[in-house]
Amino acid sequence: GTPESQSTEKVTLTIDGRAVTVPAGTSVMRAASESGGHIPKLCATDNVKAFGSCRLCLVEIEGARGTPASCTTPVADGMVVKTQTPRLEKLRRGVMELYISDHPLDCLTCSANNDCELQDEAAAVGLRDVRYGYEGANHLDTVDDTSNPYFAFQPDKCIVCSRCVRACGEVQGTFALTVDGRGFASVISAGQDEDNFLSSECVSCGACVQACPTSALMEKSVTEIGKPERSVVTTCAYCGVGCTF
Ligand code: FES
Repeated sequence: GTPESQSTEKVTLTIDGRAVTVPAGTSVMRAASESGGHIPKLCATDNVKAFGSCRLCLVEIEGARGTPASCTTPVADGMVVKTQTPRLEKLRRGVMELYISDHPLDCLTCSANNDCELQDEAAAVGLRDVRYGYEGANHLDTVDDTSNPYFAFQPDKCIVCSRCVRACGEVQGTFALTVDGRGFASVISAGQDEDNFLSSECVSCGACVQACPTSALMEKSVTEIGKPERSVVTTCAYCGVGCTF
């Protein structure tokens, strides 16, 4: 869910009625998963700093206002957290409904089918219907960026969680990617003159592809010949990404 805290100080809190002891500085999301729970999420991962943008991981905390994001909320001693309530379930379904209203419904032919976090979380929150329809959505007239020799960027599949942007900067230290625009018009941009991956600072390390929760960033080998049946992860001295073959 979120990076591990290195603190030696311990904090005990209650999550869904269970007492949990974790290092200070741990996020509520990570504490929940260490106690065996699962909080739906899209923008948080174990190796980049929590960003709090997808709003799927909302929780209720006794004494706190509203429903804070569990990925960006650190634990505190004596905190009492609820991760599953009718109110939270309704909020999460509403958030997911907005994501799906702006996403192609081609799961069966998508290269990420059965390996897609958006698909998994839509099922996890019990999404059955999208009240807003799908017409007029951002995804209808986008152009794929196939300039990089190893992977392609399909903006229509992108949910702008910025995991790729943060992986590029925090894991690889390249900072080739950014989010352009605001709100519904936000897009991931590789910057530079031609606004494509090849003309950017991208070093083709693949950190962004590994971070992507959908098929927005996908190896060309997978889109062209399908997913490999087995894989090996290696980490070399050149960078910290950990390549998957
Ligand atoms: Fe917490 Fe996205 S996972 S806001």
